Amino acid sequence: MSPSPDHDRLEFWEEQAQRLHWDTRWNQALDWSDAPFARWFTGGTLNVAYNCVDRHVEAGHGDQVAFHWEGEPGDTRTITYAELRSEVCKTANALLSLGLRAGDRVAIQLPMIPEAVFAMLACARLGLPHSVVFGGFSPAALRSRIEDAGARLLITSDGQYRRGKAEPMKALTDEATGHTPSIEHVLVVRRTGADVPWTEGRDLWWHHLVDTQSAAHRPEAFDAEHPLFILYTSGTTGKPKGILHTTGGYLTQAAYTHRAVFGLDPDSDIYWCTADIGWITGHSYIVYGPLANRTTSVMYEGTPNTPHEGRHFEIIERYGVSVYYTAPTLIRTFMKWGEDIPARYDLSSIGVLGSVGEPINPEAWRWYRKHIGGDRAPVVDTWWQTETGAVMIAPLPDRPDVKPGSARTPLPGISAKVVDDQGREVGKGESGYLVLDQPWPSMLRGVWGDDDRYRETYWSRFPAQGYYFAGDGARYDEDGDIWLLGRIDDVMNVSGHRISTAEVESALVSHSAVAEAAVVGASDATTGQAIVAFVILRGGATVRETDAGRVVAALREHVAQEIGPIAKPRQILTVPELPKTRSGKIMRRLLRDVAENREVGDVTTLADASVMDLINAGLVGET
Ligand code: WTA
Repeated sequence: MSPSPDHDRLEFWEEQAQRLHWDTRWNQALDWSDAPFARWFTGGTLNVAYNCVDRHVEAGHGDQVAFHWEGEPGDTRTITYAELRSEVCKTANALLSLGLRAGDRVAIQLPMIPEAVFAMLACARLGLPHSVVFGGFSPAALRSRIEDAGARLLITSDGQYRRGKAEPMKALTDEATGHTPSIEHVLVVRRTGADVPWTEGRDLWWHHLVDTQSAAHRPEAFDAEHPLFILYTSGTTGKPKGILHTTGGYLTQAAYTHRAVFGLDPDSDIYWCTADIGWITGHSYIVYGPLANRTTSVMYEGTPNTPHEGRHFEIIERYGVSVYYTAPTLIRTFMKWGEDIPARYDLSSIGVLGSVGEPINPEAWRWYRKHIGGDRAPVVDTWWQTETGAVMIAPLPDRPDVKPGSARTPLPGISAKVVDDQGREVGKGESGYLVLDQPWPSMLRGVWGDDDRYRETYWSRFPAQGYYFAGDGARYDEDGDIWLLGRIDDVMNVSGHRISTAEVESALVSHSAVAEAAVVGASDATTGQAIVAFVILRGGATVRETDAGRVVAALREHVAQEIGPIAKPRQILTVPELPKTRSGKIMRRLLRDVAENREVGDVTTLADASVMDLINAGLVGET
């Protein structure tokens, strides 16, 4: 990165920072002297919850709806900014009563219910970094995240509604908290009314502790670089990384991008981001960005086909949603269900459509615009990552020309390049690696507890230039616009969720029947990529036809238990050998060929070229 980041860029971000209320103004926009550890708005202080809630009430918008919440079973709740303030203050007072103090970590595993937002904002208000864990993650995944962050409190619920059924949650989180001595209390929201196991003294009901608190709480201003949250994401090794985000720069960019990318007008728009709060999209574009901008949002608890496949369109019609932000995998699912379903609803309120999570294929882009966007709403394809904190590359909605499938250009204030192996920018029509060549306000500040991993993962690929390496391939078209080509490392993108091949492999080999495993992401018409695993069973056993189904089912279940149902392989193939180079590295490229039913490519670097014949022979009748 150039030693003196461009003056205009810094000035641009200083202007954007003025969208927020600062208790103390910063004295320097960016301190990059300890690169790659950035400090933005040094010396500035602010409170994130005050910015997202209180100041809107103080400005006379207390009656404006912050959330139209819709539960999966059909119950609803309307929360105004004034109510949001009182809920957040009560929650903050409850957390204080448990002895939590700025800097303490809080783990949150909750369904998409309003308490999830109250909990996040209460943490932000008190300077307690939160670590939200997706509701579908297993007890083992929750446990490792609690341990890594050393969380003192877990906030969870008795259960959650999934596909019309009340599923347990507290019973599962207990499996994690049974092994995490750092957890002093478990605060439990009653959602489904299910019976739950209870540990006296440790466990507390939300409705007992929170509802009885005072609704008054004075926010304290924190340093711009105070940690706001940790969010775990998959990397190329088995252990997820705790991506650290801080206060001032993060909120500045989340607020700016949300306003600019969707052309959002807080006085008239009804906005709906369909992500789960367990992912970065939920953090930046359900909670922090929209609330900082005083948005009226829709929040929906459940799955898109419960109780019927028109549920999303029914919600758009009911609330008059004007900005709808979702993922290509859901768009392709809607395509599969058929265009006659959205056609039954009045979607004329839609003004802007957003897409995030993976490259959107032109066919899905066109379908989205035509059948949800009435052939007029712009589709903004937003490229970003957990690490970038907020959108980085996207067409602004006022750009009249359209290119289905291209995220186009970096936003104002952002700089990105497509470079070759040597870090040289490639030409028009050429592909390479996507890098970010200038620091940005919402950039990750590190990997929780692991500075070396931060440097190694993101900054070691182009050390001479000091580029941030995103892990994505990209191409410039003839106009110099950027097209994203997907991950170039061992991270899969399944329905927009990042899962590393190593994570699934280590889950598989932790099962007693498995000697070795190799996992690849194979392209899938609905989920973008699907997980395909090749396993060698212990003792060189080749499974007899009759046993294969049973073993494979047990392994899929095992992966779900180790990581979560989203990591269940679509296919598990038992093989006698895995293709390896002479240095012992698994050649995933060849396995991908098999998984995608292609002719197997160049095998000359294999230690034993006949392995692929063995694998292919063994697979006859296996799929
Ligand atoms: C991919 C989600 C192409 C990409 C916000 C990135 C995309 C990873 C797009 C980050 C897009 C996300 N076009 N690819 N519009 N958006 N990706 O951390 O591979 O869950 O590196 O953040 O998703 O996933 P993450």
